[in-house]
Amino acid sequence: MTRPQPRHFLDLDRFDTGTLRHILDLGAEFKKGRGATAPLAGKMLAMIFEKPSTRTRVSFEAGMKQLGGDVINLARGDTQLGRGETVADTARVLSRFVDAIMIRTDTPDKLADLAQYASVPVINGLTDASHPCQVMADVMTFEEHRGPLAGKVVAWVGDGNNVAASWLHAAGHFGCEIRLACPPSLRPSAKAMDWARARGARVELTDDPAKAVTGAHLVLTDTWVSMGCRDDNRHELLAPYQVNEALMAGAAPDALFMHCLPAHRGEEVTDAVMDGPQSVVWDEAENRLHVQKGILCWCLA
Ligand code: CP
Ligand code: NVA
Repeated sequence: MTRPQPRHFLDLDRFDTGTLRHILDLGAEFKKGRGATAPLAGKMLAMIFEKPSTRTRVSFEAGMKQLGGDVINLARGDTQLGRGETVADTARVLSRFVDAIMIRTDTPDKLADLAQYASVPVINGLTDASHPCQVMADVMTFEEHRGPLAGKVVAWVGDGNNVAASWLHAAGHFGCEIRLACPPSLRPSAKAMDWARARGARVELTDDPAKAVTGAHLVLTDTWVSMGCRDDNRHELLAPYQVNEALMAGAAPDALFMHCLPAHRGEEVTDAVMDGPQSVVWDEAENRLHVQKGILCWCLA
């Protein structure tokens, strides 16, 4: 007898838009306090962190507990993964103990291995290639403030990194135009750009931040040096890509500013923008909690 496939939450390009919309709706219900009470009672989530985290760790732990479940935290060095036990064997073993596994790791191959060998749902809590939970929270935040993303212009400024790749996936799903201003050596994933274009999204790539933000409804940036990246000359390369008041002045008058955090104030974004009237970064952080409750319920339904 074949076992049913677990409901993994790996990357946004693997979903149909209706499912993502359903998860966003679930998150919104939880935020309003109208979601089911304790739908995950008795469920256990293992969280593997091979990189540091504040938001992902605390929002998943708080969310799981608020839904009636519990978590086991496995930091780098806590498990035999660090001593050479394979991801596949770890997946097989953890699946005998817990109901779902969240992982934050470096290579997307480890995430794929975990999903292949786990018999419980696996959730992507960030890899070097993507950060889908974050972008679900970003979409929720934009739509709360400004209504549907469809037809809106989103500008990504800086490193074409993991969060940018998940934003390309979101553009392919939710019908916004996405413009990415990145230095030529830090362009986003060609695969994610191709995927978004194939889904009908307008994707523009430039090395001119002012051009990318002109008339944009949402301006996003992220750290210049992601976890696990070598610093090299990134600060020098990315200095012209700082999101400051002068850059924001070129966006639509009611444009929002978002950053997945942690922010490096004075580098990719100034205090004036982070703390200014267009910034919704704290709502964006809060929405990690709500949307991930939607993700957990979908995975464990
Ligand atoms: N945005 C985000 O994922 O933050 P953490 O690294 O603190 O989890
Ligand atoms: N791009 C960043 C996101 C942190 C949440 C990183 O990977 O470090």
